[in-house]
Amino acid sequence: MIDRRLLLKSAGAAALTLASRPALAVGGATPMTLRAAPAKAQIAPVRMTGPTDVWVYNGTTPGPEIRVTAGERVRVRLENSLPQPTAVHWHGIRIDNAMDGAAGLTQEPVGLGDGFDYDFVAPDAGTYWYHTHDRSWEQMARGLYGPLVVEEIEPMATVDRDLTLVLDDWRLTRDGSLDAGSFGALMDWSHGGRLGNTLTVNGGFEPEIAVRAGERVRLRLVNAANARIMAFDLPGHRPVLIAVDGHPVEPRRLEEDAVLLAPAQRADVVVDFADESGATVPFRFLGEQDPFPVATFVYGSEAPLRREVQGGVPALSVTMPHTLHLDDAEEVRLSMTGGAMGSMDRAIVQGRERDFRELVSLRRVWAFNGVAGDMDEPLFRVPVGRTVKVVMENDTMWPHAMHLHGHHFKVLERDGVADPTQDWRDTELVAPRERVTIALDANNPGKWLLHCHMLEHQAGGMITWFEVG
Ligand code: C2O
Ligand code: CU
Repeated sequence: MIDRRLLLKSAGAAALTLASRPALAVGGATPMTLRAAPAKAQIAPVRMTGPTDVWVYNGTTPGPEIRVTAGERVRVRLENSLPQPTAVHWHGIRIDNAMDGAAGLTQEPVGLGDGFDYDFVAPDAGTYWYHTHDRSWEQMARGLYGPLVVEEIEPMATVDRDLTLVLDDWRLTRDGSLDAGSFGALMDWSHGGRLGNTLTVNGGFEPEIAVRAGERVRLRLVNAANARIMAFDLPGHRPVLIAVDGHPVEPRRLEEDAVLLAPAQRADVVVDFADESGATVPFRFLGEQDPFPVATFVYGSEAPLRREVQGGVPALSVTMPHTLHLDDAEEVRLSMTGGAMGSMDRAIVQGRERDFRELVSLRRVWAFNGVAGDMDEPLFRVPVGRTVKVVMENDTMWPHAMHLHGHHFKVLERDGVADPTQDWRDTELVAPRERVTIALDANNPGKWLLHCHMLEHQAGGMITWFEVG
């Protein structure tokens, strides 16, 4: 899994302390500006090398945390100071279609030196995020994303603090610069996507995060990596899952107490920090190799906030309306093919069937229903309010993080068996050779993307769209 060379080389490096990021409350009449521009950021361990050239929103990667309350209006002016066109997508938000930021589908890309005014209401509380949606396989790998937190109108009573951790893995060269030479590498596109070698938490390498004994913290985890599937644990601390992809779940313990996050997924967990003052607990990445810390929670020396461990974690309330009419649903099949060790020998690009060699030269090495990234026809068109079942058949040797814009969907079945979670998500991991059936209430009018959030797969053909109304 993770290439630990850079991590090991830096053993003993001074840990960076996690600076708390300024949260921008943007509700009401005041629009904020989000300026996308090149900048430098300390990504690699300080001992190893200085800052890396990255692309940022308002000077930092991740960009500023945007925090509003459910029902509030968000007004953001994007200014593009990048050397490329760009657009901002508000991932997971039940948004007005015109504000979805899907360059090429819902808006023109924003040119160099130009701007765009995003103006929408964030209807549901939850952990969301924003990121570029133009050439995202390059622009996100360079750092263009940030958290968007929509707070509950009634704050969660038993939680003392709320902390957002945005996770990414960067591909750096030995001198600590971004490995830009490998952008577009067919090897990544046809395999598991662009995997990095340096994991960061809120843009920092192995930060220390201060906690107080006895406090109950809500952690909002966001996987912002291009393609890395991540799993984490906190030894001795058992997180309780309260939401996935911004959507509340019945609070539950996690299998092996590990939080699993496919690219673009979010998890809200509640953790009781019940150790003594002065204790430390690693936030560990669980890969194929031994677990290793990507951050450390450090208990402060102040007196414990409380002595008793708190009781159960209350459920958040669901505000998203979704009425499923499963016995009268539009059923859509989505067959996923391609990639290394796959069986795809032809697919359609620009309306014409191509053989595999030609597909490779076009870097369209994945397909949905035999079409490699053509966008002229939608996968389906339905009237507003129709229930749609999508049967996603992964006929490849690779996992895919399937994301649908503008709606959450219910995970109904895996390989014909009822999914034990029945979670509502906006991004779902489909394992190699697996068949996952999801259902959505297509109640948000407009043209919406459906794609793999492993961004090289998306660019390599795993993208389509659907139209509601
Ligand atoms: Cu997170 Cu199409 O996006
Ligand atoms: Cu994929």
